[in-house]
Amino acid sequence: MKNHENASPVLEVQGLKQYFRVSRTYTVKAVEDVSFKIYPGETYGLVGESGSGKSTIGRSVIRLYEPTDGKITFAGKDISGKISKADNKTLRTQMQMIFQDPMASLNPRKKVEDILGEGLDIHHMYANRAERKAKIQAILAKVGLAPEHAARYPHQFSGGQRQRVGIARAMIMNPKLIIADECISALDVSIQAQVVNLMKDIQEETGSAYLFIAHDLSMVKYISDRIGVLHLGHLLETGTTEEIFSNPIHPYTRSLLSAIPSPNPIVEKTRISENYDYRTSGLDYTKGTDHLISGSHYVKCTDEELERFLKH
Ligand SMILES: Nc1ncnc2c1ncn2[C@@H]1O[C@H](COP(=O)(O)OP(=O)(O)OP(=O)(O)O)[C@@H](O)[C@H]1O
Ligand SMILES: [Mg+2]
Repeated sequence: MKNHENASPVLEVQGLKQYFRVSRTYTVKAVEDVSFKIYPGETYGLVGESGSGKSTIGRSVIRLYEPTDGKITFAGKDISGKISKADNKTLRTQMQMIFQDPMASLNPRKKVEDILGEGLDIHHMYANRAERKAKIQAILAKVGLAPEHAARYPHQFSGGQRQRVGIARAMIMNPKLIIADECISALDVSIQAQVVNLMKDIQEETGSAYLFIAHDLSMVKYISDRIGVLHLGHLLETGTTEEIFSNPIHPYTRSLLSAIPSPNPIVEKTRISENYDYRTSGLDYTKGTDHLISGSHYVKCTDEELERFLKH
């Protein structure tokens, strides 16, 4: 557990709401009154089932969406409304993203050196070609790739190596915050641990903070200092990883935890997975908490359903 008694948070999300108006009568309330803080050098794990609003929060933080309501403060600056060009430029270096599918997010026609150099070029982060090259070589070494990998194209790598390139591309900017949205979900389980370990090592060295979005709690537990549990756009519970795992308060959190298989076969034999149904939970998900609202009628909406719905 990291000590941040005297530090101010690198990211503070206060009362974030993100609604998507999809027609005159339908509004998807993807994120409802979510607040959390991330301190320098720490990892905040955001967990929850599919459609709970994890990616939407990440995208709001990175300013892809303008918040419906609430405030997002990054490195002491309010970034939730209009910001100056200069602030936006700073943000584009200091906040980086690692994507789920590196094959889709890395330009297939570019060599790794140019993928890694792109941000440096845009933001003029070197004095001459030699310095550019040195920075690229240094970051490759940091993510465990060889110097000769610089001349290769993304398809010439394995999945795990490609995600190392994705991490290098984010890290080369020396960011204060990295948003990693399901960045290990597409990898083999054996490779997942390697990549998470690499992220931990780099964090130790650089002090970057992570917003680590995932639905696999076992990896979240391993990497996170604190965890937030998201359900239907609501942050149900947040606390240190220790607190969440040893004393989960919310029944939804308990159901998430009970779904993790144990590596110990004796424990696994007696594991009882708890179900959680918010409708019968007796908990108050009142006013504005319906995920997709049509009058008072609740409709659970997947992306596919939404797409179909939008075509009508
Ligand atoms: N641009 C959009 N317009 C309308 N609805 C959206 C939009 N983006 C997301 N949603 C809806 O908001 C809800 C939350 O979506 P989000 O992608 O944030 O979930 P998630 O927790 O990341 O899920 P997953 O684990 O499947 O990635 C979903 O119901 C989704 O359909
Ligand atoms: Mg998502």
